[in-house]
Amino acid sequence: MARRKKIYEGKAKILYEGPEPGTLIQYFKDDATAFNAQKKATIEGKGVLNNRLSEFFMTGLTNIGIPNHFIRRINMREQLIRQCEIIPLEVIVRNFAAGSIAKRLGLDEGTPLPRPVVEYSYKNDALGDPMVSEEYILAFGWASQQDLDDIVSLALRVNDFLSGVFYAVGIKLVDFKIEIGRIWDGDFMRLIVADEISPDSCRLWDIRTGQKLDKDVFRNDLGNLTEAYTEVARRLGVLPTQATHVNKPTLIN
Ligand code: C5P
Repeated sequence: MARRKKIYEGKAKILYEGPEPGTLIQYFKDDATAFNAQKKATIEGKGVLNNRLSEFFMTGLTNIGIPNHFIRRINMREQLIRQCEIIPLEVIVRNFAAGSIAKRLGLDEGTPLPRPVVEYSYKNDALGDPMVSEEYILAFGWASQQDLDDIVSLALRVNDFLSGVFYAVGIKLVDFKIEIGRIWDGDFMRLIVADEISPDSCRLWDIRTGQKLDKDVFRNDLGNLTEAYTEVARRLGVLPTQATHVNKPTLIN
C-alpha cells in the first residue's frame, strides 16, 4: 500500500496530501504545547474533540456565508480541507482582557474591552510569534491593505458568530485566534478562514462560574483538559460518535 505524503507537521496537527488536487487531509494530534512549545504533553482524546469542534464551527461559518477551508470530516481524527496559501499571521480578536493583553496593559483579567480588538502576530516559532502592526504587515508584504480590510471584516464576523454560539450555551468568548488563507479561482484571489477553531485557540469561560474551559487549563495546570473540552462539546451537542475511552467491564460481586 502506498504511504500518503506528509505535507507539514505542526504542534497539534499534521497535513497530508488530499485525494484530489487542491485538497489536504488535516489530522488532529493529541499533543498539546504552550508557551511556544516550552511546555508539552500528550492529552488523550484532545485531537478527537478538536476535530469534531472545528468541524462544528467551520460548518456553522459556511452556513452563514463565511468562506473557510473545511470540506468534510473523514474520521475521528481527520478532515478534508481546501488547500490554501496561509498568510503568516495569527489574527487575534479580543472581547475581554486576558492573557498577553492583560499583561501588556496591566488590565485585570475579564475587563470588558471598549470594542472587539483585532491584533496580529507574525507566525514564527523561532521568534515566539511576535505581535506586529499593520505597518509591519504592509511593509513586509505579508498582506495588502485590501487583504487587511477583508481580514478584519472576516475576523469580526467570526467573532459575532462564535460569541453568539457560545453565549447560547452559557460560555463567554473572551478571545480567539484564527488563521487566514488565500485561494485562487483563476486570476481571482479570495481569503478564507483556515487552520482550526477549537478550545486550543479560544479563551472560553463559563458565564456563571468563570470556570476556564480552554487551553489555559493546560497552560496554567487548572485541571483536566479533556474534561474541559468534553464539557464544551457536550454543551454544543457535539460529541464523538464513539467514546474516546473504552470503559473496562466492572466486576459485580
Ligand atoms: O496569549 P494571548 O493572550 O495573546 O492569546 C490570545 C488568544 O489567541 C488566546 O485565545 C490564545 O489561545 C490564542 N492563541 C493561539 N495560538 C497562539 C497564540 C495565541 O491560539 N500561538
